[in-house]
Amino acid sequence: MKVVEVKHPLVRHKIGLMREADISTKRFRELAREVSALLTYEATANLEIEEVTIAGWNGPVKVEQIKGKKATVVPILRAGLGMMDGVLEHMPSAKTSVVGIYRDEETLEPVPYFHKLVSQIDERLALVVDPMLATGGSMIATIDLLKEQGCKDIVVLVLVAAPEGLKALEAAHPDLVLYTASIDEKLNEQGYILPGLGDAGDKIFGTK
Ligand code: URA
Repeated sequence: MKVVEVKHPLVRHKIGLMREADISTKRFRELAREVSALLTYEATANLEIEEVTIAGWNGPVKVEQIKGKKATVVPILRAGLGMMDGVLEHMPSAKTSVVGIYRDEETLEPVPYFHKLVSQIDERLALVVDPMLATGGSMIATIDLLKEQGCKDIVVLVLVAAPEGLKALEAAHPDLVLYTASIDEKLNEQGYILPGLGDAGDKIFGTK
């Protein structure tokens, strides 16, 4: 698995601001969107382009465009929704595929309970977004699901990753590419990332 911890100064600065204990919902949302947009910019740097001829103001003109079908952004419910607009800022024509995962209280296994994927997902780049890669369970279940649907080109964007989650994801899906604003220290006993951001879903939705 290729893991990129983005070193861009804007990313370093903004992810630091997100760690403030009493950050407002408004500010957390804004920063989640901004960091997601920057991760998207980095993650799409090597997309394939092709030359096409269009009608320009002075006749035919050759221009470059991104090759292939429109990408799909895949937010994992619910916190992934907080990253979606940031991705769409740079890829406004991307389609959205949504995946919902819950944790079975007995087995503790993540179980997909809902998905609505775009058509021909097997021919699209899928940008899977979830702010926190903690144990990696939800991400692994989502990637399993996408691959079952034929998806071959998958890039994961997370704001913060725990080493434990990266290890689990690598073991399950070694072919992935992952971009993150920060690889943090560890998980605590409750499964929160340290130093982390706290509960990203609650902070994005203003719950709790
Ligand atoms: N989910 C979160 O929102 N925060 C964590 O630290 C881990 C999982």
